[in-house]
Amino acid sequence: MPGARAVEDRVILWLKAAVFLVALSPGLWLFWLGWRDELGANPVEALSRGTGEWTLRLLLATLAVSPLRRLTGWTVLLRYRRMLGLFAFFYGCLHVLTYVVLDQWFDGAAMLDDIVKRPYLTAGMTAFLLLVPLATTSTRGMMLRLGRRWRALHRLIYPAAMLGVVHFLWQAKIDTTEALVYALLLALLLAMRLPWLISPVLAGGCPPTRPERTHQSVSAIRSP
Ligand code: HEM
Repeated sequence: MPGARAVEDRVILWLKAAVFLVALSPGLWLFWLGWRDELGANPVEALSRGTGEWTLRLLLATLAVSPLRRLTGWTVLLRYRRMLGLFAFFYGCLHVLTYVVLDQWFDGAAMLDDIVKRPYLTAGMTAFLLLVPLATTSTRGMMLRLGRRWRALHRLIYPAAMLGVVHFLWQAKIDTTEALVYALLLALLLAMRLPWLISPVLAGGCPPTRPERTHQSVSAIRSP
């Protein structure tokens, strides 16, 4: 009979698979709608909106992991953070690809002009560029290699999320309600970090539920 630890590992694996499928499903749904030509009157706009919103949602979900872990004491939540962050980057890439390929058809000069002249695109591009080093250093090897610098680097997720919200607010010309909801959620997630940023005593508030194994201790490098 498998031991308690083996059962726990299996549950974690199944949950990982479930999180993976849930995070992938909006992309598959958009692809399906596009395939069937059911994206509406303006398919490029629908794709841009869908991928943009999922980039932001997954960025916020990634930022929600640490506060949730502190509130519940469930260290296991940390195991899903990297996947959520990488999915945010994945949707960010699809969003940028929609712009580069479907909107601008690789017209480098027009894109540069657009990004420089339109502040909402400047903010979006800066946010996306900030995500690149986070995604490329998300492996366990890079975490170990960078050590404390990894934590500092991964704080870039804060300005990236802020700029993502600014980008959304700026491009929402008439109805800003939805963008403001994202702004509020982000403000809440950032405010929840303040006590731990201010008081290092609180930072140790939730002890791990069980001794961490070698590879887990990597994911326990406390990040944003
Ligand atoms: C982390 C980076 C980014 C995030 C989180 C993000 C998020 C979003 C969101 C939430 C929207 C609004 C969707 C809606 O109206 O429902 C949007 C729209 C848009 N984004 Fe981004 N974006 C990012 C980067 C970029 C970049 C780099 C570009 C291109 C250079 C870009 C181009 C656009 C365009 C053109 C729209 C308008 C779509 C339309 O309504 O026609 N975004 N983005």
